[in-house]
Amino acid sequence: MTDLFIRPLTRGDVDDVIAIQAAIIRRQPGQNWVMMLQDHTHHDYALSFVAQKDGQTVGFLVGEVKIGPFGQEHCGWLEMVGVSPKIMGQGVGQALAERFFEDLAERGIGDVFTSVQWHSGDMLAFFKALGFDRSNYINLQKQIR
Ligand SMILES: CC(C)(COP(=O)(O)OP(=O)(O)OC[C@H]1O[C@@H](n2cnc3c(N)ncnc32)[C@H](O)[C@@H]1OP(=O)(O)O)[C@@H](O)C(=O)NCCC(=O)NCCS
Repeated sequence: MTDLFIRPLTRGDVDDVIAIQAAIIRRQPGQNWVMMLQDHTHHDYALSFVAQKDGQTVGFLVGEVKIGPFGQEHCGWLEMVGVSPKIMGQGVGQALAERFFEDLAERGIGDVFTSVQWHSGDMLAFFKALGFDRSNYINLQKQIR
């Protein structure tokens, strides 16, 4: 998509990103989600972007640079990516991810991780299309109440 512009997420993008997320999940995101998003506009570890087309925000990617587990130095974490339902399937998600990968590479970071809900076949297909594969780690969960 030629007229697509990818730039870092700023505080001024928060309302637009909330609107895209609300359109995807068909309800307003909760307060914790909004706080997480706000944190990613200014924290050192955050590496997040929005996609704009014709002056409108049409997608977002929330990413981080983390100290890697098990002796790895730094790695990238792709926390969340979302595209306005009106414009899905037109390369916006891929463009956001490629910008994220480029910025990680510029920082000398060679590994990027993400996590997908087991029933999200579309997200899994998207990540596979970007070159993600199963990692050497498995997620564990324990219910404490
Ligand atoms: C998944 C998502 C981020 C992908 O962004 P997008 O701009 O729509 O996707 P792109 O056009 O960049 O797709 C890139 C590649 O990923 C794959 N892909 C993307 N969406 C896919 C889908 N729904 N099913 C299968 N493959 C898909 C395709 O291989 C595609 O390449 P192609 O079009 O050349 O075949 C976006 O569709 C989205 O936000 N979906 C909603 C996710 C959701 O439901 N979240 C709720 C929990 S937070």
